[in-house]
Amino acid sequence: VEPTQEWADEIRRLARARNATLLAHNYELPAIQDVADHVGDSLALSRIAAEVDSDEIVFCGVHFMAETAKILSPDKRVLIPDARAGCSLADSINADQLREWKAEFPDAVVVSYVNTTAEVKGLTDICCTSSNAVDVVASIDPDRDVLFLPDQFLGAHVKRETGRDNIHIWAGECHVHAGINGDELTEKAAAHPDADLFIHPECGCATSALYLAGEGAVPDNRVKILSTGGMIDAARETGAKQVLVATEIGMLHQLRKAAPGIDFQAVNDRASCPYMKMITPAALLRALREGRDEVHVAPDVAARARTSVERMIAIGN
Ligand code: 13P
Ligand code: SF4
Repeated sequence: VEPTQEWADEIRRLARARNATLLAHNYELPAIQDVADHVGDSLALSRIAAEVDSDEIVFCGVHFMAETAKILSPDKRVLIPDARAGCSLADSINADQLREWKAEFPDAVVVSYVNTTAEVKGLTDICCTSSNAVDVVASIDPDRDVLFLPDQFLGAHVKRETGRDNIHIWAGECHVHAGINGDELTEKAAAHPDADLFIHPECGCATSALYLAGEGAVPDNRVKILSTGGMIDAARETGAKQVLVATEIGMLHQLRKAAPGIDFQAVNDRASCPYMKMITPAALLRALREGRDEVHVAPDVAARARTSVERMIAIGN
């Protein structure tokens, strides 16, 4: 199935007929982003999922995101065009592993990144995304231990920003972002000395970027550690003519739309998330024609997880 104008018209027609809202993450294929009602980062999409009044949400993203939409809107039908679209980061901790970790630190506050399963969220005190992780941890009593999971690079960023010593970090990672390494970034930054660096905190190279700034190799104000939504805002505000982008390459589409005058270049142009790309034009068409794959979360798990997700939404970004 090619993403032609006829395809887009058919998708819009079916979405209207089903009274469905189409949400797409910033890493989706450009054609999927362009046909959606809303495109955004995981926090923005969670908020929209909680607010829209359509009967159905079709979540073009990965499974934990669709699950989060279902947790927030249990009465709506939530579809994901391909239920196999998982996430290597969400897979890096399961509920049993978290139970064991909590037993070691019974008084700690558990902060989980939204890239986790509903079951893990159910064992969590407060969720966060890349755009509000620092604020979430900063909101916690400084005397309480914090268990932060599952991303080690985001955890290191939060630890640096909050200056807390009592934060324990799970050693998980996203294989796509971990693969964007410091050597590539250093090389690109040296070749483009006037460019801004937009870096997602899940990247292995985030530490290198701050190191480069510390060494004076890149001016401090050119290194920006941002969520995918934060990158769009920064693109509209920066005076730079060129931006080096360290995140999944689907992001370039929204950035180029938001700031057509800027030359955006991927730090690693092979950083493509295979799970996000499972949401193909054919899969979306099938989802709307056949009403699948429906996302289910057991009501007791959803109820426990909802508290932690709602606390995250209340803190904002
Ligand atoms: P954002 O929260 O920045 O949208 O990131 C989600 C994600 O999956 C990053 O890999
Ligand atoms: Fe998960 Fe990484 Fe893909 Fe984001 S880019 S969905 S963290 S595997």
